[in-house]
Amino acid sequence: MKPINHTVIEFKESIFSTMTKLAIDHEAINLSQGFPDFDGPKWIIDLAKNAMDQGHKLGNVGKNQYAPSAGILPLREAISKNYKRFYNLDFDSANEVVVTNGATEAIFCACMALINPGDEVIVFEPFYDSYLASLKMAGAIVVPVTLKAPAFTFDSEELIAAINSKTKMLILNNPHNPTGKIFTREEIKIIAELARKFDFYILSDEVYEFLTFENSHTPTACFEDLANRTITISSTGKTFGLTGWKIGWACGPKEIIKAIHNVHQFTTFCVAHPLQVAMAEALGKMDDYLINFKSQYRAKRDYLVSGLKNAGFNVLTPAGTYFAMAILKEGENDIEFCQKLIREKKVAVIPTSAFYIKSNAGSGMIRFCFAKTDETLKKAISNLAL
Ligand SMILES: Cc1ncc(COP(=O)(O)O)c(C=O)c1O
Repeated sequence: MKPINHTVIEFKESIFSTMTKLAIDHEAINLSQGFPDFDGPKWIIDLAKNAMDQGHKLGNVGKNQYAPSAGILPLREAISKNYKRFYNLDFDSANEVVVTNGATEAIFCACMALINPGDEVIVFEPFYDSYLASLKMAGAIVVPVTLKAPAFTFDSEELIAAINSKTKMLILNNPHNPTGKIFTREEIKIIAELARKFDFYILSDEVYEFLTFENSHTPTACFEDLANRTITISSTGKTFGLTGWKIGWACGPKEIIKAIHNVHQFTTFCVAHPLQVAMAEALGKMDDYLINFKSQYRAKRDYLVSGLKNAGFNVLTPAGTYFAMAILKEGENDIEFCQKLIREKKVAVIPTSAFYIKSNAGSGMIRFCFAKTDETLKKAISNLAL
């Protein structure tokens, strides 16, 4: 038999799936994969049920049939309105917004749309694992720059040294998974200056935009002169606790969004239609929801962080996302530590070496997810304190 594609054959099972399976096998409390163990808002689920039940009654195009490939216009309008309302950003809903199957598909389509084989792309490590796979499928050369614990700042000399005339794009994830870091204005200004000087794009993954605990989020596209070279990607999974719905999007300059849509059109074509109908309405009603959402997650963060500290972990308090990192003791290894934690304490977390390709710093850290019910967090803390 002839060999299958040499890039794809090398992809391993995602660490999130591995740890979730292990958690099930060991009946452990799962603080590994980044999704809530409670349901999203009932009123949004009811909106989707209603769209399904109405089928053809809700207008000309049946809501249980294919949606327009770029996303239904009311959803693109709702996305565009929110960018204007929250951040004073202008994205034309007709040409500068494309709806995708989660941020994951937007990331893949953006990589395919912008990268030619051999182009170099800067990625800050630790990084979300789909970046590497998408970039490799697009034929990019991945150039990692390591964020240094405990503040997870980058060394600007290291960043400058990683950039050259072949640099096509930089991926910025802000707020950042797995560290919970929020990049400072100064850091983004350094990136912006380099992007202008070396003429590269910025893929800005902002799926945790509403999970910030100190200040509200500032999209990369808001920084001076960056709007014309930034692809802003986000989704509703984290914000509404409905990660299984996979409603995401990419926004940016018309020509880039057209290219991203070209890829989307021939990969998945469109996103589940009734879910788009529900989200179009939900995005217009976020204000009240966000107040509770933020205070709920802040309380979970504080509970987990203080519980872990009391249990003897060197845990770092995250400024954003629903993850917290803990630094292991000298000589401990993340994978062995996580396996032991599952076996002996019945708690599953993520070994962070999976998020690095250059530095071995990840083998000294683990990641906890606190998007869990208070009961789950309480049980986890009491197991860990034993
Ligand atoms: C940084 C980051 N980007 C993207 C995603 C995927 O988002 P979606 O579920 O909308 O595809 C995740 C999910 O964990 C993530 O952590």
